[in-house]
Formats: sequence, C-alpha cells, structure tokens
Amino acid sequence: MRLVKLLANLGYGSRKEMQTAIRHGWVTDRDGNRLKADAKTAHEDILFDDEPLDPAQGVVLLMNKPLGYTCSTKDQGRLVHDLLPDRFRMRKPVLSTIGRLDKETSGALLFTDDGTFLHKVISPKAHVPKVYEVSLDRPLKGDEGVLFASGEMMLESEDKPLKPAELQVLDETHARLILHEGRYHQVRRMFAATGNHVTELTRSRIGGLGLDGLEEGAWRVLSDVDKALIFSGD
Ligand code: URA
Repeated sequence: MRLVKLLANLGYGSRKEMQTAIRHGWVTDRDGNRLKADAKTAHEDILFDDEPLDPAQGVVLLMNKPLGYTCSTKDQGRLVHDLLPDRFRMRKPVLSTIGRLDKETSGALLFTDDGTFLHKVISPKAHVPKVYEVSLDRPLKGDEGVLFASGEMMLESEDKPLKPAELQVLDETHARLILHEGRYHQVRRMFAATGNHVTELTRSRIGGLGLDGLEEGAWRVLSDVDKALIFSGD
C-alpha cells in the first residue's frame, strides 16, 4: 500500500496532510532516512514524527475496561474509545469491540479491525468461554449452580434456553460464572432470575487470555501467542 494511504488509514491525518508530512520529512525509516511516497519500507521500520507506526491492519487489542465507560462510538458520556489514542477513531477499517460489556461492568474487552477474527471469537463454534467475577447483594441459595448448568434456563422474553454455564461459588456473596455465549446483560439477568442482584461485575478472562496485571483503563496490543491463548481455553 502506498505510504500516503497507509498513514491516512491508520488515522494520522487526511491524505493531503500525509502528503505534506512526507514532503516535510516527518516520515522516516529507523536510520532517519526520509521516506518518499512510493517507499516500500516494512511497516515496523517506518517512523512518524520519530515514533514507530501504530500496528498495521489486523490488530487485536486487550483493554481492562473501567466502570462507567460505554462500548459504543456514538453514545453520550465516556466511551471505551476515549481510552485509546484519538487517531485510532480514524482508522480504516474501523476498530470495533469484540462483543460488549455493560457500562457498569469492568474487565477484559477486546478490540479489532479484523472482521474474520471478530467472528471467530464470537462464533458459538469457537467455544471461547468468558469468565466473570460476580459480587451479589444477597447470599447464594445453593441451587443456582444446578440451574445455570442445566441448559434449560430461560431468561425473560427469550425463546431459547441458555447454554449450560458453570458457577463456582467463592463465598456467600461472591461467585465466578463461566459462560459460553453472550446474551444481553446475561450475567445480571441470570442472577436476577434467581431473586438476587449483581452489585459488581468484572470479566477476568476470555478463553485462556486473562488481564495479567493490565491496569484499569490500560490496553495492549496482542501478540500471535496471546491471540492463540483466546482459543486455548486454559
Ligand atoms: N453479562 C452482563 O450482565 N453484563 C456484561 O457486561 C457482560 C455479561
């Protein structure tokens, strides 16, 4: 891809602005040589304003989503995209979240511009389990695990039972729930159906990929090893 188009697609600016940037010598290789518009330099060797370029198309990011941020590009208020560099909003193809977390849910959230990868993660065939840490308003009764694992639980206004989910009880009001699908407000609705109320909810794991010390509000680019972990399930 020509340099002007590459930079514009990464969100550094319009094509016109990128032509100017190249003319002014702001785009160089790692040895400081100014690059021309038809340069064939490898992506990882290109610097913009002395900084390595953002990841090429096909990127996957992991964010530790804080509470109070919405997984949308349009809503009012704080958006998860606000936690990424501004130019990421201008990337083509766009960077979308893989699934969503509620505004009041924190934890592991993936972004990608790779539609095939996105579908692979959310496809029921991929069997990517999602692990949630749940705090509850009231003590667990003891029969929730059997209900959640039954494969027969129906949520209000739905016509298909939930897939079996695994409940690990941590103490009276804390549990870990492992889901193999992602329905709207699923964790909160499952506990509401048992007469309880979720007071705190965090997604700690997507497949075999955990947050591993990633701070709240921080994000990182996933390596191929990280990406494979998502599908490894352990
Ligand atoms: N289930 C919920 O209720 N909320 C989320 O954000 C994710 C799963």
